[in-house]
Amino acid sequence: MTAVVPSTSVRLDPADLHASLSDPAMRSMNFLNEVAGRFPDAISFAPGRPTEDGFDLADLHAYLDAYALHLAETKGYDRARVHRELFQYGRTKGIVHELIARQLELDEGITVDPEAILVTVGAQEALWLVLRALRATDRDVLLAVAPTYVGLTGAARLLDMPVRPVREGPDGVDPDDLLAQLAAARAEGLRPRALYLVPDFSNPSGRSMTLPGRARLLEIAAEQDLLLLEDNPYGFFQAVEGERPPTLKALDTGQRVVYLGSLSKTCFPGARVGFAVADQRIAGRDGAGGLLADELSKAKSMLTVNTSAVSQALVGGMLLKHGGSLLRANRRQIDTYRRNLDCLLRGLARRLGGLDGVHWNTPGGGFFVGLTVPFPVTDELLDVAANRYGVLFTPMRHFHDDDEVAAHQMRLSCSSLTTDQIETGLDRLTGFITARI
Ligand SMILES: Cc1ncc(COP(=O)(O)O)c(C=O)c1O
Repeated sequence: MTAVVPSTSVRLDPADLHASLSDPAMRSMNFLNEVAGRFPDAISFAPGRPTEDGFDLADLHAYLDAYALHLAETKGYDRARVHRELFQYGRTKGIVHELIARQLELDEGITVDPEAILVTVGAQEALWLVLRALRATDRDVLLAVAPTYVGLTGAARLLDMPVRPVREGPDGVDPDDLLAQLAAARAEGLRPRALYLVPDFSNPSGRSMTLPGRARLLEIAAEQDLLLLEDNPYGFFQAVEGERPPTLKALDTGQRVVYLGSLSKTCFPGARVGFAVADQRIAGRDGAGGLLADELSKAKSMLTVNTSAVSQALVGGMLLKHGGSLLRANRRQIDTYRRNLDCLLRGLARRLGGLDGVHWNTPGGGFFVGLTVPFPVTDELLDVAANRYGVLFTPMRHFHDDDEVAAHQMRLSCSSLTTDQIETGLDRLTGFITARI
């Protein structure tokens, strides 16, 4: 049956909707999902998804039970109170903040008052809330290390927060460029409120900051009165066993860092749980001693009201089942990601090593590798690769506003593939690249 469209049906002019909705950055996530949906048989190096190996429905029940038991045993809740906690609307700042504080202490050496933690609908909501709070006037801008996670760019567009790129350097952030960008913005009468960065195995570049680079960045932040928005979804996934460098938040003695946590890769994205650690004090408001987390909570109460109690109970139960440590919960996944990254890097070397104009980086872990080729990598070309060669990747231009180098790069992710799929995918990718050359 064909739908009847009355002649009076509304047609909205895109020019009458918020300008961000017509911005190419806003199309990125849906575009990539849509391409993947059109070519279900293609091997996809595109999504930064966690491995599905080990997902088990029975675990969800066990996590819920573990969390309910925890409420009864440690908080003394009776059955009715446990039910209310899981079935009802709940505390806007979240109910697993104490478990998250303990996890941060155990896994990251970050000591933080649980009251400074706001549990959010993924790190994405935390990002949005922080940007909302910081965009106080027309003069407020955000600096972001480029290439930049597209979810940050999109959130900033929705909030009319201009984003000014800062170059990535060998230490993770180029300090000279950061100082130059700060000076340039201020000379234009603007207020750079914060620098956004992913210091560990960045999305999309795979780049990590060195320890001296982290120390220098904190020094600059203090000198320049700048906040740092540290986004850390991938820090656990080191390619080689060994000590992990401390997060910026663990090194932060002056509340310079707002830490954005995602439980999508370390628990599972279906829960949609993340958090912000926002321990910055608000001067003279609501009496002495208010926290940025409480200001963000006001905004959250008008956006998502509270993060699903059921989702929080699931990740809370997962934490409890692993002694409060996500590092412990991720032992097997860490091995999978190590094996996959190694397979991808060796496979690239075997197939494409020595080819003129083709090179890639060797990240110390995480999900992503940046591959450079001697031809522009466009969305149209992605269509060709999917259609004729059965392989998908993410054109790096999605993470850059305007950059000549990125225009010739693709982001390859191997986190949710098997090693057999990686090998087959690389055969197809090699066919595609050599044909273009
Ligand atoms: C750098 C970065 N930040 C934030 C997110 C979003 O995380 P979440 O799923 O917790 O919203 C992602 C997801 O891929 C990411 O790569």
